[in-house]
Amino acid sequence: MTDNVAELSALRAREFPWEVRGDAIHFDHASVGPLPQCARDALDAYGLKRAEPHRLGMDDFFPVLDRARSLAGQLIGASAGEIALTTNTSWGVNLAAYTLPLGPGDIVLGSRGEFPANVYPWMAAAKARGFTFEMLPLAGTAADEELILRRIAEDERVKCVALSWVSFWSGARIDLARIGAACRAAEVWFAVDAIQGLGPLTLDVRTMPVDFVSCGAQKWLCSPWGSGFVYVRGELIPQLEPPAAGWLAQASSGDFGRFLDYDPAWHTDARKFEVGTIPYQDIVGMNESLALFLRLGPKQIESHVRALTTRIIEWTHKRRGVKLLTPEAAASRAGIVALATNDLDGDSKKLRAAKVTHSVREGAIRLSPHFHNTMEEVEVVLGALG
Ligand SMILES: Cc1ncc(COP(=O)(O)O)c(C=O)c1O
Repeated sequence: MTDNVAELSALRAREFPWEVRGDAIHFDHASVGPLPQCARDALDAYGLKRAEPHRLGMDDFFPVLDRARSLAGQLIGASAGEIALTTNTSWGVNLAAYTLPLGPGDIVLGSRGEFPANVYPWMAAAKARGFTFEMLPLAGTAADEELILRRIAEDERVKCVALSWVSFWSGARIDLARIGAACRAAEVWFAVDAIQGLGPLTLDVRTMPVDFVSCGAQKWLCSPWGSGFVYVRGELIPQLEPPAAGWLAQASSGDFGRFLDYDPAWHTDARKFEVGTIPYQDIVGMNESLALFLRLGPKQIESHVRALTTRIIEWTHKRRGVKLLTPEAAASRAGIVALATNDLDGDSKKLRAAKVTHSVREGAIRLSPHFHNTMEEVEVVLGALG
């Protein structure tokens, strides 16, 4: 994408016209991703039908969800049957914490520095189910991979590792392949919170040894709040008992003429984890955004984001008073660059004055550009910081 400026300009004009007008420079995908025009159009069209339900047809219900599972599956190399739709990342984390066969005597390894959505579910499940949730110290601004690998190798009570792919505050990325391989070798489950990774990074679960991947779509997948999904590795699905029941997790509920037969058999695929009605309108929006990602090419998006973030990192070498919290190596970061500056408030104010959307987390300015941002915008952002 970087190498095709005309294509990027056309994409921005079509999908993010407010950017072309100069309303804002959005470098805050780690908080919330903008909805592309194609998603807005789909939401508007669906909103009309939702307001006047006589316009809704059968294609506006289950086929919307089928398409979402299929698109999310395509994005990460999973089958649609390995995808359960969720309304956020937290539900996917809870699924792992409550369905994996864990109990007294077992240890789940986590890390300090994690976003609470990947901590509290494990704490609560540990209390309810009797396992131990062990939070390992950080190595600098990243999870301590050496220590994690050591703990996996040395202690056979370790049964699961639960980590974020990318840190929400430092932008540090863990080596999924390395930790996943160690987990597989030791028969330890690997549950990943992917919300800060998927989009700026690509994932193929056919080659990546992961068991659960939870991902809200509201940030880097530029989708409505209330949309997201969890991947559950196919072989695990039959072994896991859903922690909650409603009606749509049961295969029998597909037949609207026979609800009262009450057949409680779960769906045989990941739909068994979906419980009840999913917010169709949000999923309609997510479908368009995911389809856009797939059209643009996830690998191209990854290299575009890498080029933008690399430029920011190079700039930090020359700018006084800025400490980079994000690891420099491209393989150890994703779309977030975290800058601890001497004057956080002042620098944040300068960015706001230049209409740069960003956030401040854990003592650093967090910049998080994406596929529709340009190198020119990076220069404006860096210029604003001085
Ligand atoms: C690593 C991580 N996990 C989860 C979330 C959000 O969780 P949810 O999608 O459940 O709101 C965030 C949001 O900032 C995050 O950074």
